[in-house]
Amino acid sequence: MSYDKSAEDIVTNLTNNTHIDDVINTALANPNRRRLMASGAGAAALSFIGLTGCSDSNDSNVITSAPPAPVPPPSSVAPPKATALGFAAVPKSLADTVSVPAGYQASVLYRLGDPINASTSDYRNDGTDTGASHAFRGGDHHDGMHFFGMSATGAYDPNAIARGLLCMNHEAITPAFLHANGVTSVNGVRTVNDEVIKELNAHGVSVIEVVKSGNTWTYVRSSSFNRRVTTSTEMLLSGPAARSAFMVTQFSPDGSRTRGTVNNCAHGYTPWGTYLTCEENYAGYFRRVTATDNMNRSAKDLTSFARNGVGGNGREGWATAVATDASDTTFSRWNTMKIGASVTGSDDFRNVSNTYGWVVEIDPFSPTSTPKKRTALGRFGHEGAWLGKITVGQPLVWYMGDDARNEYIYKFVSDANWDAADATRGATAGDKYLDAGKLYVARFNGDATGEWLELRFGLGPVNATNVTYPFANQADVLVNPRLAADALGATKMDRPEWGAVDPFNGSVYMTLTNNNSTLRTVASTDAANPRSYNDPRITGANQRGNPNGHIIRWAEVSGNPAATLFGWDIFLFGSRAGSDPRTVNLSGLTAANDMSSPDGLWFGANGLLWVQTDDGAFTDVTNCMMLAAIPGSVRDGTTVQVVNTDGVNTKTVTTYVGAQLGESKLRRFLVGPKECEITGLAETPDGKTMFVNIQHPGEDTSPNFATRTYGSYWPDGGNARPRSATIVITKIDGGVIGT
Ligand code: FEO
Ligand code: CA
Ligand code: CA
Repeated sequence: MSYDKSAEDIVTNLTNNTHIDDVINTALANPNRRRLMASGAGAAALSFIGLTGCSDSNDSNVITSAPPAPVPPPSSVAPPKATALGFAAVPKSLADTVSVPAGYQASVLYRLGDPINASTSDYRNDGTDTGASHAFRGGDHHDGMHFFGMSATGAYDPNAIARGLLCMNHEAITPAFLHANGVTSVNGVRTVNDEVIKELNAHGVSVIEVVKSGNTWTYVRSSSFNRRVTTSTEMLLSGPAARSAFMVTQFSPDGSRTRGTVNNCAHGYTPWGTYLTCEENYAGYFRRVTATDNMNRSAKDLTSFARNGVGGNGREGWATAVATDASDTTFSRWNTMKIGASVTGSDDFRNVSNTYGWVVEIDPFSPTSTPKKRTALGRFGHEGAWLGKITVGQPLVWYMGDDARNEYIYKFVSDANWDAADATRGATAGDKYLDAGKLYVARFNGDATGEWLELRFGLGPVNATNVTYPFANQADVLVNPRLAADALGATKMDRPEWGAVDPFNGSVYMTLTNNNSTLRTVASTDAANPRSYNDPRITGANQRGNPNGHIIRWAEVSGNPAATLFGWDIFLFGSRAGSDPRTVNLSGLTAANDMSSPDGLWFGANGLLWVQTDDGAFTDVTNCMMLAAIPGSVRDGTTVQVVNTDGVNTKTVTTYVGAQLGESKLRRFLVGPKECEITGLAETPDGKTMFVNIQHPGEDTSPNFATRTYGSYWPDGGNARPRSATIVITKIDGGVIGT
């Protein structure tokens, strides 16, 4: 019952959005846009909004010459702004190890299966540990992660550097390694319930206490703060879609609650010390056999299911397991077919997939607290939620990517303005800032400007007479923001992954990890997704489309995160060093920094930008990696014309490329073991400790359990099964990492 990873990227966006010429024409018909052009500064604004400095105080379209004010680093222990990289580039590698630069050390901190209390046994790593025990063990596929400093009294302390709570996602599983001889199933039916329970528990989130002694970090196995949140943990639904008809299930007939979180990819955090875990490819976990269920569903249901990808047998087959107690819905709740007689869905789980695909807030400092799914931030394939720069008296903003091919970039702007006193009020602040606000989707115009389009019921085509999907109310919009964004003409992107916000100027960076030749054709290239090319592997088939990905960045008008206009450029293009510099290697990458498929992204407090890769394209040459960059600023580079051709069709695209960084400002810092993804990065606020996650080493090779032959043996070595794990990186001299 192996799962095809490519299915994660099933395309459900079949709209005609994106063609940049249409985008520009539509933009010019937009009232905001017309005002912009009529302001007298229209030409300057169109040449570039925001970078010349645009005031957004009363009228978001008034252009001034004042540059955005620099934003101070958030912590009193933050290192100074980095001006140079202080390490030698790590070579590309296919070795089954973690490589870091000379002068650095990396150690393993927390692996799949590691116990989080004193009463759970050490992990055998042979598939014989019980399913129940995995509720108290490190989950699989470590991903997004955050370090919350903790005071001596156990409270959130953003300046603590030697003790804290590390919160991390466990996105998915490599099922074979969890069980003694791989997954047991008969004709696609799961027949060993304990295996399924183990898998249910291996997903979710870990909260672990970590402490530093000397220059060594350990996790505290017996800490009372340690916690696993799994696919079974009870959660509250919060915000405008909570208690709506969309959320009614047998488990919660009033639509106020659900159980569990799944496919937790990247993350976010709040200024009051809570963790945001983001539900990405949730849709594939649910069983909905379309041949029998479609006839029982409304046209709206079917449109929503199709656009969100809910339909199939369920990627791990959990719904096929049968509980011994008929009232036990542990397995049956993964079946989202209509089987009950009720009108509302209170007697089955036909609506349960609507309770997934959210940003979930967890208070790590309260181990018994109930996580809340924050519906105001919308439901889609959430990669993560990245906090914009904070200004007292202004709204809080989170930027979000929807990670599937040709999906969109969003932002949430709170209705409440930030009160610094809320930083110490803990999770109670969540209801204030995360339950009410405006949800926007991005449109990237062909002239390096962009607009945030609000997803609000009754605004524009997002209404009850929409032909594709007649929206009922704002809850409907939040359950189906992809459909609302389609209607507004948002720009289809090359798979939005992580975002990161420059702590010094508030600019936002977001990885667009890759796209294939079907969905990023030569004809469909546009300014923000400008490449469609052939990337020849040394071994294996050619790969067309945008297999190497890129990183886009933008600056909001006047540096105001709540603005509705922005200017953008492309910070970095992934490429092999030897590729054509006119069409592929537009950022001038060399052997010291060539890379593909950027995914994880993190700004250190010193302004270093860390880039992690989840790569399937460059893996003929190297394992996945992490690089450090000293970025410039939006539009510090040049306008270029990219001539895309597939041998039949040719299209020239004008785009905007950030200044080439060269080896002095972009270097490879780490290369991971075989068949892994590097994803998840957290730093202590002094920049002297870095936590990095190594996800699914050895996942591409079918294991031979008889001979104990695996694709990787990391981290335990010998002939041990591979395990996802968190590593700790420090500088041997105890200094700030990267500089
Ligand atoms: Fe889970 Fe978007 O990577
Ligand atoms: Ca990711
Ligand atoms: Ca990924």
